[in-house]
Amino acid sequence: NKMLFNDQIMDRKDVINIEDRGYQFGDGIYEVIGVYDGKPLLLDDHLERLVRSAEQVQLSLPSSVEDLKSKLDQLVSINELEEGIIYMQVSRGASPRWHEFPDAAVAPVTIAYTRAEERMTDIEDQGATAVLTEDIRWLRCDIKTLNLLPNVLAKQKAVENGSIEAILHRGETVTEASASNVFIVKNGELYTHPADNYILNGITRKKILQLCKKLNITVNEETYTVTELLDADEVFVTATKLDVVPILKVDQHTIGSGVPGETTKRIVEEFRSLYK
Ligand code: PDD
Repeated sequence: NKMLFNDQIMDRKDVINIEDRGYQFGDGIYEVIGVYDGKPLLLDDHLERLVRSAEQVQLSLPSSVEDLKSKLDQLVSINELEEGIIYMQVSRGASPRWHEFPDAAVAPVTIAYTRAEERMTDIEDQGATAVLTEDIRWLRCDIKTLNLLPNVLAKQKAVENGSIEAILHRGETVTEASASNVFIVKNGELYTHPADNYILNGITRKKILQLCKKLNITVNEETYTVTELLDADEVFVTATKLDVVPILKVDQHTIGSGVPGETTKRIVEEFRSLYK
């Protein structure tokens, strides 16, 4: 099994320096890209977001998007990955541990590897449950940084409650979930938090907004409250490889009639047609 280390495809072994800033400070950015039938899905969008994240944290990417793209394609084919994900991250590099940025000569460290993962078809068809928890993250959730401790704690709470996701709220306002975006359906229309600094602008979210145009489903990129979430007809979450998962229960509240709703099912189907 091979990985990408800076610009070389090599064996996965002893590549992490203990003073890598990603490791010590979470000082870096990342992407998770779905691979279906041996092909990365929406790779250009993921790399575009990586470039944006890099700019926002003043990290200069050591290689061009074209180079990264061809290296990732190469990695998928060398590892003969059919179904799964590519994980890639770029940290601000390794240097003696001080909080401020290292000397300009210190090069960022890029790594990428692949992991086989089954498609989550069953859960997409059957739905899952979620818990609610306060969003305790910083105010730049639009940047896909390595700092994920609040997300980790939220997800752990979900899993301990037998749920797939933790839906986050800042006071009354629902933002997103620990590792996915959240949509609600009310009277046939979709609502999802606007892509501002409070959420990660998901690539799956973005694609769904496009698909909804095609399906003639109205989408309102507007905030909604916890009460509106619980009163929704349908709720679903979206993320890479999770794709579109209907949420049937949030804490003790059953959503709608407790089965995947018609609008959600149309969106699940339409999303599947992207890679079928
Ligand atoms: N997480 N919001 C958060 C906080 C996320 O971590 C993610 C994805 C999303 C959905 O984004 P996208 O559709 O681009 O995957 C929204 C990835 C999968 C992860 O950290 O594993």
